[in-house]
Amino acid sequence: MTAPAQAIDADRALKAKHRAMWALGDYPALAADLIPDLGKVLVQACRVRRGDEVLDVAAGSGNAAIPAAQAGANVVACDLTPELLEAGRAQAAQLGAELQWRQADAEALPFADGGFDTVMSCLGVMFAPHHQASARELVRVCRPGGTIGVLSWTPEGFIGQMFATMKPYTPPPPAGAQPPSLWGNEDHVRSLLGSAVTEVTPHRKTVMVSLFASPEDFRDYFKARYGPTIAAYRGIADDPEKTAALDHALADLARRHDHGTTTTVMGWEYLLLIARKRH
Ligand SMILES: C[S@@+](CC[C@H](N)C(=O)[O-])C[C@H]1O[C@@H](n2cnc3c(N)ncnc32)[C@H](O)[C@@H]1O
Repeated sequence: MTAPAQAIDADRALKAKHRAMWALGDYPALAADLIPDLGKVLVQACRVRRGDEVLDVAAGSGNAAIPAAQAGANVVACDLTPELLEAGRAQAAQLGAELQWRQADAEALPFADGGFDTVMSCLGVMFAPHHQASARELVRVCRPGGTIGVLSWTPEGFIGQMFATMKPYTPPPPAGAQPPSLWGNEDHVRSLLGSAVTEVTPHRKTVMVSLFASPEDFRDYFKARYGPTIAAYRGIADDPEKTAALDHALADLARRHDHGTTTTVMGWEYLLLIARKRH
């Protein structure tokens, strides 16, 4: 096999692994329980209006795509994981929202150049492993003068720290794969988008999470529902000591971020970055 053919095969295998991981647990329930407002925050920040052509990249079950459709935009929600798109389709039908759902890799979007007024991603594109490739795609499919909006967990914030906590318990990523939370670093995103954009406005914000009775409750919820956490535990399932250490580390992380008195209350930091594609 030639080197390029090997690289294509390796990328296919990596994406298949990611797809299977995001289908684990119950991501649609987690998004609805914990971050339902973040999709709306992104749609508002992008100033999506009736009649706009909008692409939600790594849309999952439609956390941002559905509010954009409810605002009257013509929306395409695309994602690597068909199970999440199916959940989104069902949710949209219940809400009477009309939009298109399409399976797609953020690093190779199946859309023409310049076809969308707004290209957005809520906690999504950050999980595609080759950042420059996906940034190039976000820019390519946006029309000149259109809006690019990305909302990502910061490396220093709670979910960035949760990934850092799980890292020693997970296999190393393949060469060339970049850590998701770098998309939460303003300088990194500015350099990815480069001179293709103008009017970059970054905001660091926090979403308050008060669903959990205790730090252990947070950990057990993520162990049952969040694909990356479930995958981390599966990888060490035959090692009780490592499993106990990760149990302890995740609860401890939540304890350090807990501002609650009777229940656990945490602020999870994210970067909301809006930019305009240069004419
Ligand atoms: C944390 S979820 C966010 C989903 C949704 N945007 C939200 O706000 O709830 C991350 C999403 O990224 C998707 N994803 C991961 N890698 C991807 C890739 N290479 N291309 C497209 N989607 C990807 C996953 O399938 C998953 O739906």
